[in-house]
Amino acid sequence: MKSYKIAILAGDGIGPEIMKQALKVLKVVEERNDVNFEYLHAPFGACAYFETGKSFPEETIAICDGADTILKGTIGLNHKETLKIPVEERPERGALLPLRKRYDTYANFRPVSLPKGLSHFSPLKPEIIGEGIEIMIIRELVGGLYFGAKERGIDKNGKRWVKETLEYDEDQIKKILNVAFQTAMKRKKVLHNIHKNNVLMSSVFWNEVLDEVAADYPQVEIQHMLVDAASTALCLNPTQFDVMVMENMFGDILSDQGGGILGSLGLMPSACIGDAKSYFEPSHGSAPDIAGKNIANPYAMVGSVAMMLDMVMGMADESRNIWNAMQDVFTQGYSTPDLSKPGSGIKMISTDEFGDLIVKTLTG
Ligand code: NAD
Ligand code: IPM
Ligand code: MN
Repeated sequence: MKSYKIAILAGDGIGPEIMKQALKVLKVVEERNDVNFEYLHAPFGACAYFETGKSFPEETIAICDGADTILKGTIGLNHKETLKIPVEERPERGALLPLRKRYDTYANFRPVSLPKGLSHFSPLKPEIIGEGIEIMIIRELVGGLYFGAKERGIDKNGKRWVKETLEYDEDQIKKILNVAFQTAMKRKKVLHNIHKNNVLMSSVFWNEVLDEVAADYPQVEIQHMLVDAASTALCLNPTQFDVMVMENMFGDILSDQGGGILGSLGLMPSACIGDAKSYFEPSHGSAPDIAGKNIANPYAMVGSVAMMLDMVMGMADESRNIWNAMQDVFTQGYSTPDLSKPGSGIKMISTDEFGDLIVKTLTG
């Protein structure tokens, strides 16, 4: 029997509510496969800060170090509550970015997927969605502006200033581009490279490295697109995209745009892959506006479980079963309120009911 230690970082806001559904689904997988999951629950984020004074406490670091993989809910508070935490311990800066850096999870896969049958969820017109949207956004996750040197100060005239640097070295760029080309090879062999080389030197360099890496993948067709144009193209012509690759901040922004074209951020799972360790989390945040109400959409969280089963545990069949079960719940006419606006005819269900329906469909 295969055994996996999974660190469970439920986090803040809707994190614990959606993590509960993830664990229900994992229980089904465990019961009917020759596999054993050991869950190592650990505090992470603002909840950890208020409990221990650290948003990524030593105890949690030790648990993550010892785990085979990590399943993370969401972290963060609303604007006002965030101000109660010192800047360096705020969950994004104090927990999430250090988690990514510690395990060098450089390759962030953010699927933007909407089968034709679910096109009514999207704000886009059916003729734009066509046969469905099936994009894989690959975001570099441990470099760029988010991790570059930061400085602030006051000049001799008393004027305040700030400086942050967008840093990449060629190895970092090569690594993520290799992942992108390899992903394109397994799919439609078309890669959209998203950049801003008309302004940023980092993009000029990125594209130079891309030309070198591309030599190893002659079958892949490369389409270059400026990031600002890409944001419009995602709305007007999303079906032109298959695999998109970009640096960290562009990927942060465009992947939320992905949630927008699907109809909800609750439809955006993700996998954060490193060479030695990977972790899995929804792309969305802690949704403080709906936390504690049992109405959050657990799809992105459970989809992240499906990605973990496939990418870490080699359980591609169970992964597919989970995706199918979630689609089935939707096609049976159910959804959480984010996708069931009044008058849409969709039967509104809670977070818990969604989890139960996934389990029922999986086992039915
Ligand atoms: P958010 O993603 O939390 O919410 C944006 C909007 O999407 C909200 O209206 C929210 O209700 C909705 N939404 C998000 N996920 C949903 C779901 N599963 N079901 C239904 N609706 C959902 O973004 P925000 O409000 O800008 O950020 C809130 C906090 O989350 C901030 O502290 C931010 O830093 C943090 N954050 C954390 C992560 C993470 O843990 N990886 C990611 C993004 C933002
Ligand atoms: C994401 C989030 C994070 C990011 C924040 C919370 C640090 O927005 O995972 O998309 O900016 O990467
Ligand atoms: Mn984001």
